[in-house]
Amino acid sequence: MQFKYVSGSPAAQEADVLALCVASDGGRDADFKAVDKNVGGLLSARIKELGFAGNVGESLIVRPKVDSSLPRKTRAVALLGAGPRKQVDGPLVRNLAANAVKLAGQLRGGSLAFVVPAAASVDVALSVQLATEGVDLATYRFDKYRAKDSRKPSPVKRASLVATAPKGAALNQAVDRGKAVAEAVMRARDLVNEPAARMTPRQLAVEARAVAKKHARVTVKVMGPAECKKLGMGMLLAVGQGSEEEIRLIHLTYKPPGKPEKRVALIGKGITFDSGGYSLKPSASMLDMKIDMAGAAAVIAAMDAIGRLDCPHEVHAVAACAENLVSGGAYKLGDVLTSMSGKTVEINNTDAEGRLALGDALTYTREKIHPDEMFDFATLTGACMVALGPHTAGVLSHSDKLAGAWLEAAARAGEDMWRLPLNPRLKEQLKSNIADMKNTGGRAGGALTAGLFLSEFAGDTPWVHVDIAGPASASKESGATAEGATGFAVATILEYLRH
Ligand code: BES
Ligand code: MN
Ligand code: ZN
Repeated sequence: MQFKYVSGSPAAQEADVLALCVASDGGRDADFKAVDKNVGGLLSARIKELGFAGNVGESLIVRPKVDSSLPRKTRAVALLGAGPRKQVDGPLVRNLAANAVKLAGQLRGGSLAFVVPAAASVDVALSVQLATEGVDLATYRFDKYRAKDSRKPSPVKRASLVATAPKGAALNQAVDRGKAVAEAVMRARDLVNEPAARMTPRQLAVEARAVAKKHARVTVKVMGPAECKKLGMGMLLAVGQGSEEEIRLIHLTYKPPGKPEKRVALIGKGITFDSGGYSLKPSASMLDMKIDMAGAAAVIAAMDAIGRLDCPHEVHAVAACAENLVSGGAYKLGDVLTSMSGKTVEINNTDAEGRLALGDALTYTREKIHPDEMFDFATLTGACMVALGPHTAGVLSHSDKLAGAWLEAAARAGEDMWRLPLNPRLKEQLKSNIADMKNTGGRAGGALTAGLFLSEFAGDTPWVHVDIAGPASASKESGATAEGATGFAVATILEYLRH
């Protein structure tokens, strides 16, 4: 997709489709009036005739008549309902832009001019960035396994983001940034959508190497079973020991030019397939479990964008990758594992594998990287989805300051996240009679006990755990979100590291 930022009148844009957002309250804005005037009041007439109220989800296509004074190229004006003015926020801007692309696609338009609506809660630059993201994300397809003639790529190849703000470097940068974010999100989606037979721990390492190769400031280190054994990663090794596929611990490093402001570590759960192990999942729950590496995909894809954008921090991405399968060599219930930290863990559920893999990755990060702060991303618990629903990530942290800063970044990036408590009273559930702890507690508070388990390995390093079990994938497409992998967390990571 080719992007351009334009300041000026929407009525002058040379594009096949001109998309305008229409609020449901408070009359029409200047952009609308200008375009309406150029089509002889046709927009107002059609709105009245069809009872278009401007609610979110509504759209209306208006084809200019021959006497229109819009550019000849303009085949259609697409009106998109934006709802009440005060409720226009970042995620809505992104979704409206995505829906504009879809409408333009239905009209077989090759070019789109999207008039960026004024949002109540975000400034123009961020609105332009989010609109760019929405436009790009709407063209995402995972169709490589479909017959060529049944693929439906978006016909939209050029997009102008139109805002009545002064022309300036900041807004051109916003477009560039939006593009970089969207491309990283789509890269994460590709990694997650790829079937587990191909996207193995080894393949994830290949993908990470490719990221490092692209950027002069990014380097990579990949560790296999022998090195992980030397490091004492008894938990990560156990999770992967039932599979023919070897485990990988992937470590990407970005070094900024000059002295880094701080050192940040991003840790991802990279279970390339989660059968549950001997605590086997029922088939219906296993169906989607190629997505269990979405945390690893997010941190690897984010590094790709970090290598490209000016990031003032030293950033490390650590992905703990393994396949959780059953075999004669798999780990068993009742096993006692020794973690890299030295703590021992009694296994009472082999399906709680993510926290084992991540626990060793957290210790590795603390001991080998010494970050100022660390974040982990994991499709960790079904319980988090039960608590927060399918669209919202759970955020757990022992640092109010870091969790607060993270949640602010999520709000700016337009990703739904909600804090859950690391209630120390629940630690009791993880008590073991024969080891330092068990790997699971009871059903009640399952997302919290998973977080408490991880906190044992986070130690005193400022740390935030992000459970993305729900939002990592979507059951149907909606706005800028595709069906299947969503690339969740990438946008917030990039927004967080910008400040
Ligand atoms: N990968 C799953 C969690 C998951 C479930 C992610 C649904 C995405 C969608 C994780 O490894 C798991 O199996 N968790 C168990 C924990 C339990 C055994 C304590 C769960 O949620 O049931
Ligand atoms: Mn599991
Ligand atoms: Zn899992």
